[in-house]
Amino acid sequence: MAATPPSKPRILVTRKLPTDVEARIAQNYQATLNTADQLYSSDELIAAAADYDGLLITSFDKFRAEVIARLPPSIRMIATVSVGYDHIDIPAAKARNIAVSNTPDVLTNATADIAMLLILGAARGAHWGGRMVRNIPWQGVTMISPLGSDVSGKRLGILGMGRIGQAVARRARGFEMELHYHNRTESPAAKALGARYHARLDDMLPHCDVLSINCASTPETRGSINAARLALLPDGAILVNSARGDIIDEEALFAALKSGKPAAAGLDVYRNEPNIDRRFLELDNVFLLPHLGSATQGTRTAMGMRAADNLDAFFTGQKPRDLLTV
Ligand code: DGY
Repeated sequence: MAATPPSKPRILVTRKLPTDVEARIAQNYQATLNTADQLYSSDELIAAAADYDGLLITSFDKFRAEVIARLPPSIRMIATVSVGYDHIDIPAAKARNIAVSNTPDVLTNATADIAMLLILGAARGAHWGGRMVRNIPWQGVTMISPLGSDVSGKRLGILGMGRIGQAVARRARGFEMELHYHNRTESPAAKALGARYHARLDDMLPHCDVLSINCASTPETRGSINAARLALLPDGAILVNSARGDIIDEEALFAALKSGKPAAAGLDVYRNEPNIDRRFLELDNVFLLPHLGSATQGTRTAMGMRAADNLDAFFTGQKPRDLLTV
């Protein structure tokens, strides 16, 4: 008697993904895609996950411990299409023997590009500049106002010298910036790229004409950019965040920006996305983007493919390359 071929694992995909990624997932799995890109609430997701073997999720799906505890027993893997995994309680997943993977490397350059865009946008007033052009009739150039600030020759402090922090450093060197960084541990020279190491964040901040946040959101970093730390920045400083919104105490940042120190900020991420604190919209010294760090066609496809590689490895009995629950 012929053996019954093993049935393909069942995968629930929580958001619409690039076409090539969806095609691959649909071919390799019994997949339920989210072609309408409907947002699931946690309760809906838990109900929808019944009888699936794996979940292909994004950083906008929150898998706190209480959600993981309520997932059906059939779920064996969660693959997130993101490098950040602060939206998943990894110990809770581990305790339930659910494998979790992320997608590092493939979005490093795109995210570092956005960090540079934030630096340049905040320094040169891309937000008010854009508004001036749209305000017809534009009154023409004046020599005195409004004016931005130069970045060449300025000191850039990088909080988090991981893959993305290093890619920001490489770009900032091209803009002739002087580099500083803070990390839990000092990087080897090849990864420090000539940047000066500060073992304490508080010691780096007074050297930051520009502070770029590039660390992960962890219990240690959450809320670490608070009022006391903002006060350590030099006058005229610029703060940019392309990592996670909750690293900054937004209440403190709002008050600080209102008082002009830091002089400007560039933000791509927010504490309570997508419900941004609308008071930031009223400030004229903030350049805002809607979490575009990895938002290019090529990068989002590469992220989806990397997540698919991880799923494929897991469901064929191999160790996924980006396994977080080791
Ligand atoms: C990431 O990959 O973590 C980006 O922020 C997109 O979610």
